[in-house]
This record gives sequence, C-alpha cells and structure tokens, in this order.
Amino acid sequence: MIQRLALILVFSSLITACGKAPASLEPVSLTAAQTKLFEQSCKNCHAMPGNPAPQAGDMTAWAPRVEKGLDTLVKNAITGINQMPAGGMCLTCTPQDFEALIRHMAAPAATQQGN
Ligand code: HEC
Repeated sequence: MIQRLALILVFSSLITACGKAPASLEPVSLTAAQTKLFEQSCKNCHAMPGNPAPQAGDMTAWAPRVEKGLDTLVKNAITGINQMPAGGMCLTCTPQDFEALIRHMAAPAATQQGN
C-alpha cells in the first residue's frame, strides 16, 4: 500500500514537471519609434516566411531561444549569431530597443500590434 502511494507520488510529480508552461517573455507594446526600427530592420528577416530567422509571433521557433534568457538574447542580437547579423542591421537601436523588439517578436501573434 505504501509502495503504491509512493509510486503515485512519483508519477504525479513527473506529470507536473512535464506540464510546466513553456518559457515566455512578457509581451510589450512598441513605441512609435521602435515600430519604425522593427519595420526598417528586424522585419526584413523576422517577418519574412522562408527566412531562417525565428518569425515574429512563432512561439515554437522562439521557445528554445527564450529559454536562454532575455539578457542572452539581447547580447546575441547585438553581437550577431550565425546568420543573424550584428545588431540586426539596426544602427540606432539601443539595448532597451533590442529588449523591446525581442519581447515583441517572441510574443504570440495575437498580442502583436503594428506589423
Ligand atoms: C538579415 C536578416 C536579419 C535581420 C535584419 C535581423 N535578424 Fe535576428 N536573426 C536572423 C537569423 C537568421 C536568426 C537565427 C540565427 C540562428 O541561426 O540562431 C536570428 C536570430 C535572432 C535572435 C535569436 C538569437 C538567439 O540567441 O537565439 C534574436 C534575439 C534576434 N534575431 C533579434 C533581432 C532583432 C531585435 C532584430 C532587429 C533589430 C533582428 N534580429 C534583425 C536574421 C536577422
């Protein structure tokens, strides 16, 4: 009986672990200036089906990246990673802009505005 109880406990903790919600970032509203930055740079690859870039609003593509943490994503956006050019070809983006743009792209499409 006690063994069975222990088994049930083990299984239920396993189920809880699997059911954990995928990592996600707080969605953000871009300022008018940031919307412009998005349209001039990020959008050319991140809202361009067929491009290897994780597409804006594609939660499946963003989930493993979001796991790295926002700080790492901002750093990688600034220094570039694989086919992602340094700074995403945005010369005037500040670290705050990168953070907002990333949170914008990594949010579900339904919460996105301005693109
Ligand atoms: C010329 C195309 C291009 C532009 C412009 C571009 N990206 Fe990317 N980006 C990519 C590609 C391709 C990847 C996938 C890189 C890889 O293989 O992991 C990527 C990946 C990323 C990642 C994920 C990095 C990681 O660690 O996984 C972030 C964050 C990102 N881009 C942010 C931005 C932002 C913010 C902008 C606009 C300021 C931008 N990108 C503009 C092509 C682009």
